[in-house]
Amino acid sequence: MREINVSVAIKPNRMALPSVDETIGAQAELLSSQLQSMSEALLAPSSVKTLRRFTSGEAARLIGVSDSTLRKMSLAGEGPQPEVASNGRRLYTLANINEIRALLARSARGRESFEFVPHRRDGEHLQVLAVTNFKGGSGKTTTTAHLAQYLALQGYRVLAVDLDPQASLSALLGVLPELDVTANQTLYAAIRYDAERRKLSDIIRPTYFEGLDLVPGNLELMEFEHTTPKALSAGTRSGEALFFARVAAALDEVADRYDVVVIDCPPQLGFLTLSGLCAATSMIVTVHPQMLDISSMSQFLLMTRDLLGVVRDAGGELKYDFIRYLLTRFEPQDAPQTKVAALLRNLFDDHVLTNPMVKSAAVSDAGLTKQTLYEIGRENLTRSTYDRAMEALDAVNSEVEMLIKQAWGRI
Ligand SMILES: Nc1ncnc2c1ncn2[C@@H]1O[C@H](COP(=O)(O)OP(=O)(O)O)[C@@H](O)[C@H]1O
Ligand SMILES: [Mg+2]
Repeated sequence: MREINVSVAIKPNRMALPSVDETIGAQAELLSSQLQSMSEALLAPSSVKTLRRFTSGEAARLIGVSDSTLRKMSLAGEGPQPEVASNGRRLYTLANINEIRALLARSARGRESFEFVPHRRDGEHLQVLAVTNFKGGSGKTTTTAHLAQYLALQGYRVLAVDLDPQASLSALLGVLPELDVTANQTLYAAIRYDAERRKLSDIIRPTYFEGLDLVPGNLELMEFEHTTPKALSAGTRSGEALFFARVAAALDEVADRYDVVVIDCPPQLGFLTLSGLCAATSMIVTVHPQMLDISSMSQFLLMTRDLLGVVRDAGGELKYDFIRYLLTRFEPQDAPQTKVAALLRNLFDDHVLTNPMVKSAAVSDAGLTKQTLYEIGRENLTRSTYDRAMEALDAVNSEVEMLIKQAWGRI
């Protein structure tokens, strides 16, 4: 082996160089101010997102009535009045839609009230759905954000929890981790071991989607990885939950307010992810059907098994209503991908969701400006691209909705 002369790498005027932390610090500040002005430009004039309005056709479909029923209600002055656009089209906000749902549920008109307002009833437990896999880029955050918004559009009361210190879910849901989230404002605040602990209800924020709230994330979530070993070695005080029960305990406090909680897991299996998995009642593993991705998924499954085994031995009992694999960024024309997808279906059978989430420029383009497809109107994208992506999204999300209803014993 050739010997490497280390000394040549050391510059003679080393003392004059800034230290690494200074350099990185300066770059971080540069980037952060650039990001701030970019987001101000993108979201101007106010940096607060608002949800678009829905046409009467879209509103009718969401509510589950015909367009003419909706028109009659509006003409008869029943319920909230839609805004009428200059072209005469009636436009509804999601809040309008939910008011109409509540009105229809009260009168029911020969149908079950839950057909209009699908909130869970006595005996139906809170669904806590963890979206996970430790492969970054497997589509966890995209899946979580779209599922949460889809469920809110159907009228469920949804809480999205960002468990990832990188906080992309928060950004997609309108909260910028680097600007809008300061100390003690993430889930960490509700699960920490010291006296700074806060109630989860004080941390939850509403989003621009009515019916969808958020527990935002930022880098502070990492603290849980550092403080948990200390807490474990110090021994827990009586009545204090062990690390794996802490997310569940925090969620317990607000359970009555929601039907579904969706958790976006970070791409690693630390204490935080484990605690999230222990709070979950069901799990979706996102998988991009490529050989490299499924071999890392196999590692993920083995590690999860081992770690959850340790949790079980420590007294944590885990029972899921369902575990499903979701194919993400799937390209049906790509032969190797279809082979991997077939392999997964062969092995896991109906544990693989029937509907894959296809790869779509509409999804990735929207992601670039931190937007979701449910947020962007059809008029803002190439129609065929939008329609294809939306069809796939709705198919995946309604399949998950069916599983939730099954867990509740409704179907
Ligand atoms: N169905 C899809 N079609 C196209 N791009 C997608 C799709 N799903 C996700 N992406 C893109 O892939 C990247 C990774 O997705 P993301 O959801 O952030 O993965 P993870 O949370 O697992 O790291 C993002 O840039 C996202 O916009
Ligand atoms: Mg992510």
